[in-house]
Order: sequence, then structure tokens, then C-alpha cells
Amino acid sequence: MSAQAIQIVGVEGIGEIGPASDLVAEIAAAVRTVTWPDGSVGVQQGDIIAVTSKIVSKAEARTLSADDREAAIDSQTKRIVATRETPAGRLRIVATHHGFVMAAAGVDASEVESGTVLMLPENPDESAAQLCDGLRSALNVSELGVLITDTFGRPWRQGQTDVAIGAAGIEVVTDYRGQSDRYGNRLSATISAVADELAGAAELAGGKTSAVPVTIIRGLHKLVSPASTATAADLVRPLADDLFRLGTAEALTQGRKDAPFHRRTIRSFTDAPVSMPLIENAIAAAVSAPAPHHTTPWRFVVMSNDTAGGRQRRVALLDAMREQWMRDLQELDNYSPESIAKRVKRGDVLRDAPVVIFPFLQLGDAAHDYPDARRRGFERDLFMVAGGAAVENLLVALAADGVGSAWISSSVFCPEVVRSELNLPADWQPLGGIAVGYPLMPAKDRPARTPGDFVTVIE
Ligand SMILES: Cc1cc2nc3c(=O)[nH]c(=O)nc-3n(C[C@H](O)[C@H](O)[C@H](O)COP(=O)(O)O)c2cc1C
Repeated sequence: MSAQAIQIVGVEGIGEIGPASDLVAEIAAAVRTVTWPDGSVGVQQGDIIAVTSKIVSKAEARTLSADDREAAIDSQTKRIVATRETPAGRLRIVATHHGFVMAAAGVDASEVESGTVLMLPENPDESAAQLCDGLRSALNVSELGVLITDTFGRPWRQGQTDVAIGAAGIEVVTDYRGQSDRYGNRLSATISAVADELAGAAELAGGKTSAVPVTIIRGLHKLVSPASTATAADLVRPLADDLFRLGTAEALTQGRKDAPFHRRTIRSFTDAPVSMPLIENAIAAAVSAPAPHHTTPWRFVVMSNDTAGGRQRRVALLDAMREQWMRDLQELDNYSPESIAKRVKRGDVLRDAPVVIFPFLQLGDAAHDYPDARRRGFERDLFMVAGGAAVENLLVALAADGVGSAWISSSVFCPEVVRSELNLPADWQPLGGIAVGYPLMPAKDRPARTPGDFVTVIE
């Protein structure tokens, strides 16, 4: 048995193609004259004809004036993946309406008359199907595969390679999943993109600048079948499975823009623990907030359910805070014992959360002193605002990690109790308590807020 050889020949003699050309006739005439190393001529059953998208686009009148290039890219773009300003102009990596992710939506100025650009075929699989039908009849070969190829860059590799953007009469992948290798290892992920491999190989024989837009591949009859319903569109990874939908800079920008909107008050948590490094990361975000006089007045007490100390101190603190609350309801609000019992019976998110963080302002060294109570009060307000900025940063950072939070006021109403329970200095001002944990369910949608409703623009 002779070893299997795959042969690829470039097809010479195809002239300039335009909208008036009969592409099937041009390709058929040229391939009939091809002489193979073994002396055979033309095509035979099982051959694959690879055609560059250039001549398909030219035959389909996809040529435009170069002045219309940007508009052409816009018209072919379904989604922008990445944009960069480069010395040569703006580079746009986009997903086309076909689903191809490529520079400039495949709008290309090479191998075209100067002053013109070429768009990809509107439906390359349909173009491939028509070429395949036409060539099968013209060449009288029932088992013929057709690929339409174009040049793509690769995100992690230098250089470009051709891939299949249209296919007919040929399998586009070989799925090895479920098969075993020589060592008995089961393959679980390997799907060879054979149509792309063939497109890359065809380009080797055709070349980029040698005006050989058609090649014939022989030796892979097993991939060719008139019954094949595979198309190059099958090679487009569905968006939901695409881990790299956006360029890195675009993804970061999007993440920064979305960050504040991710935070919502979450009051029910799963039992999953929240790791200390994750909490510290959120506290790092908190202490990057602005504060008056270039100070860093924020302090945080963290109590996790993971430790016995954290659990016990939390219960003791919350019990003491509740005592004070009950005293206030009784002595200041004249609530009856029944209504007090009803008020305090409500579930307490700070008791149940996997972690609570009590944020404080340490005002002693930070706040300026004034001889009068009026300005001392304003100075305190100033720091309270900075405390809010830090807590919001904390909550946004937690939300970015998928961690929910509820900012609860209670400690603000009983600062002495909190300081005494936690043995804190007198200048620590509580800013509430934050329940932290992984959300049991997402926050309910709420009506959108219109910025204009909150703004007075003075013109
Ligand atoms: C400073 C502050 C104190 C809050 N105190 C409480 C509280 O004591 N109890 C409570 O259930 N929610 C409290 N919240 C949450 C709000 O009442 C409200 O639920 C929240 O802002 C809802 O919007 P969100 O989902 O965007 O967070 C507080 C919020 C802030 C900013």
C-alpha cells in the first residue's frame, strides 16, 4: 500500500475577474489544463478547489471606491471588537455580519485596482455552493469540494493565514471527540478545523502576489461528499462560547463603566465563605477613595462566621446595639413593649451574613479642629462624606467579584455602644455595618433613573 500523499497545485491562467465574468467558466477552463506531477490532467473525483474570496467578490461586484472604505467597513460590521489608532490610521477589528472577526471587516485594498477596495462576498457559503454546483457540471465530476478562502490575523500569533469563509461539498471539521489515541487516552476536545487547514495549505501553493487565486487539493477524498451539508459558517464560534468577545482595552473600559451599576443591596446570602484576600481587595478599593486634607481616615472591623471569635463578638455587638435601640424606642419614642418587640423581631441581615464589615472614620488626627461647634460640625460632615465614598468603593469592588452586600445604618445610631463593645478609641465614628456574602438571588430590577431628574444645569 502506498503512503497517502496530499498534493496541492496552483491553477495558472485565470485572467482579471470582474462583474461580467462567468466565474464557473473561467475556473473550469483553467483547471482543465492543470497537469499534475503524475502526468494526469484536470480534476478528478474527490478533488477540492480552493478559490480566494478576492475573485469571488470581484465577480459579485463587491468593489467600491477607496473613498468609501470607512463606510464599507461600517456596513459590514455587526460588532466592534477592538479599535486602535495606529500611525497608519485607525485599525478596527470587528465581527462582520457573517460572524467573522477580522481587521477592517475584510474590506481590502490588495490585489485590486488602485483607488478601489473590495468587500467580502455577501454570503460566501452560498457563493461556494453555486461554484460547486457549476464546477461539478462543467467538469463532469460529481464529487468535488469547494472552499472560498480569505486571510485572517490570529490574536496570539504573528502573521496571517488563510481560512475558509465559504464551503460546499466538503466536511469543514473532523471531530475526534470520543476517539482514543494510540495510548488509550480519550480525546475530549479535539475538533480539527480541516477547512481552515486546507485554506492555509492552499495559500502556500497559490501565494499572495502571484495572481494564482485558485488551487486544487488532491488526496483528501474522505472529506468530500455531495451529501455534505457542512458550511464555513459552522466554523464560526457562537458568541455565547466566545471568551474573547472584546479586545482587552475595550473589555477593561466596559468593566469600568459597568462597575457602579453592578452594586445593588443584597440581603440574602448563600453559606459560601468570602475569602479574606477578596475582602482585603475590596478594602484596598475603599482606601483609594478621596478624603479631605490628603488624609486616610478610614478603618474597618471585619467579623467572619468562619472563626469562633468573629461569630461570638458579632453576636455580642449586635445584642448590645439592639439593647440600645430598645432603650431609645422605649425612652425617647414611648413605644409600648409589644411594639418594641415587633420592631426588633425583624430578621437582621447583619446577624446572618457570612461576613460583616464595620467601617469607621478615625477623625482624631484627620479632622481640623475649630474653636466653634458650627465649623466643627461642618468638618465632621466633610469626613462623613469621605466615609461614604470609601464605603461605596468597597461595595463596588465586592460586586465586581460577584459578592453581594447590604449597608445597614444601625451602628451610626449607637456609636458609644459600638466603641465600647469593640474596645475602640473615642474618635472612631461608626459608618454603619455591611453584610457581605454571595447573593442567594440577584437583586430585583428597579425602575431606571434618569440623570436629568437629579440635575440642575445652570447655563
Ligand atoms: C448609608 C446607607 C444606610 C442604609 N441603611 C440601611 C438599613 O439600615 N437597613 C436596610 O435594610 N437598608 C439600608 N440601606 C439600603 C437602602 O435602604 C436601600 O435598600 C438601597 O439603597 C436600595 O438600593 P440598591 O439596591 O441600589 O442598593 C442603606 C443604604 C445606605 C446608603
